Amino acid sequence: MGKVIFNGHIVDREKAIIHIEDRGFQFGDGVYEVIRIYNGKPFTLKEHIDRLYASAQKIYMEIPYSKQEITDLIINLLEQENASTCNLYLQISRGVVPRNHVIPETVSPTLIGYLMPGTRPVDLMKTGGKAVITEDLRWHYCDIKSISLLGAVLAKKKATDAGCLEAILHRDGIITEGSSTNIWMVQNGKLFTHPANQFILNGITRQKVISLLDFNQLPYEETGFTVEQLQNADELFLTSTTMEIIPIVEVDGVKIGNGTPGDVTRKLQTLFEQEIEHECGHLLSKVE
Ligand SMILES: Cc1ncc(COP(=O)(O)O)c(C=O)c1O
Repeated sequence: MGKVIFNGHIVDREKAIIHIEDRGFQFGDGVYEVIRIYNGKPFTLKEHIDRLYASAQKIYMEIPYSKQEITDLIINLLEQENASTCNLYLQISRGVVPRNHVIPETVSPTLIGYLMPGTRPVDLMKTGGKAVITEDLRWHYCDIKSISLLGAVLAKKKATDAGCLEAILHRDGIITEGSSTNIWMVQNGKLFTHPANQFILNGITRQKVISLLDFNQLPYEETGFTVEQLQNADELFLTSTTMEIIPIVEVDGVKIGNGTPGDVTRKLQTLFEQEIEHECGHLLSKVE
């Protein structure tokens, strides 16, 4: 993985050097995407690129490349790197100017993109993982996929310190999302997840699951639910680009449902795998 996207070109990794006054480095002033690559093909690429532009617009940043140019750079990188199944990290920061909080009027954003190893966590998809619940102490711009991630980093530490996969966050007792995932609850056959507003990132995986629910006429509601409802859920699962759909079988040491992945979650995992195969070709190892 020796090539990277750097400001509109593909260069050797050693040549991609970031200036000490890049505002991404000093202010966390930038936005990003993580895109899943299966069999060398990007999954839901258009949705990720659209969200990158939407995030940039929300921080008053104009991306100096067209969506097609960014798409072409990604496809070119995947070819040059002979990519198989991995993740693509794509980041655009405000650019380099003398340090000052004021957003500069003229500045050239810094674009980087590179591949990171990453297989599908199929074992975890089958067994499920554990989570802790903690207060959501992040800001109110969670809809922006910002590179300012310290709130998420500190929340994730609570999970890893407890030997868990994820920290599930709540604001005033209402579950928002995970530190790097969206959270879903199943109760009496119906699915619930927090509405897409400023308190969550509207995950691309979340949106894909919603389209699967619509298509298969499965009942769901985008509505807030409480910590207590979560603790008494029949099933829980998280969604994200890198993890897809992972059952959560234990929260704060207490089993969810019967402590194993539930039927609704397993059905969605299968439907999701079919979507991946439809877009990116055959998957070698699967949940079903
Ligand atoms: C806070 C947060 N919520 C949700 C998600 C899931 O989003 P996606 O499905 O687009 O990966 C992420 C992914 O990084 C995230 O950081």
